Amino acid sequence: MTALRVEALEAGYEPGLPIVRGASLSVQPNEIVAVLGPNGAGKSTLIKAIAGLVPISDGRVFLHDREITGRAAHRLAHEGLGFVPQTENVFVNLSIEDNLDLAASILKVPKKQRLRELYALFPDLARQRRHLAGRLSGGQRQMLAVARALVGEPKVLMLDEPSAGLSPKLVGIVFEKLREVRGTGVTIVLVEQNVKAALAIADRAVVLVEGNTRIVGAARDLSDDPQIAALYLGQHRGGI
Ligand SMILES: Nc1ncnc2c1ncn2[C@@H]1O[C@H](COP(=O)(O)OP(=O)(O)OP(=O)(O)O)[C@@H](O)[C@H]1O
Ligand SMILES: [Mg+2]
Repeated sequence: MTALRVEALEAGYEPGLPIVRGASLSVQPNEIVAVLGPNGAGKSTLIKAIAGLVPISDGRVFLHDREITGRAAHRLAHEGLGFVPQTENVFVNLSIEDNLDLAASILKVPKKQRLRELYALFPDLARQRRHLAGRLSGGQRQMLAVARALVGEPKVLMLDEPSAGLSPKLVGIVFEKLREVRGTGVTIVLVEQNVKAALAIADRAVVLVEGNTRIVGAARDLSDDPQIAALYLGQHRGGI
């Protein structure tokens, strides 16, 4: 069984103009898989399409071997798929507690118990539970976004650039937390620009170029791969 499988996906914002063009991806249960690639490669579009937020024109998506292609985002949240968008991933005018509470109400999960579990996993959020989300530091806010996405106990959690705008130290703290989340049995798909940090925590990585998955490999091997460096340093165009 795969936790998440994407087969030859085509997706985009306007009919006839696919941004994701034939991408495939296979994620095993409890893996951390990084989705890398240059700016504009379609990484965000790919995970938004999987999450039901961008129209799919071809290909298929499976969550635990059940087809979910084109299923609406709110349904997927009930069916075990969590998604942390890159921006606007918390309600800045609500407290930490109210952000989590609201997510629990929407997903109809037992509030008290779930919040207790999440506060155990995120003790810093527990301490600041009455603070407005908009007043939190970048790292804490990202933690809250992750906690919110975990309210519905997703089996697969997808995150779009959780390291964006964070200092290297905070990236380390957030990624360490993601490792802990994986330890609770959650499979993680991580879209990242921060290649080094992503490869340090991922088991495997795929590189998306022009909407297509070009390189797939063990994170360990890719960290030393000159093709990866070439892609990110822009010395190599279209040759892979
Ligand atoms: N809402 C949108 N409507 C129309 N086109 C969009 C939209 N969002 C992104 N695009 C286009 O889709 C292409 C891929 O964008 P996407 O955001 O998926 O790339 P990315 O790999 O996530 O890039 P980055 O590393 O900069 O986050 C780009 O050409 C972009 O202009
Ligand atoms: Mg993006």
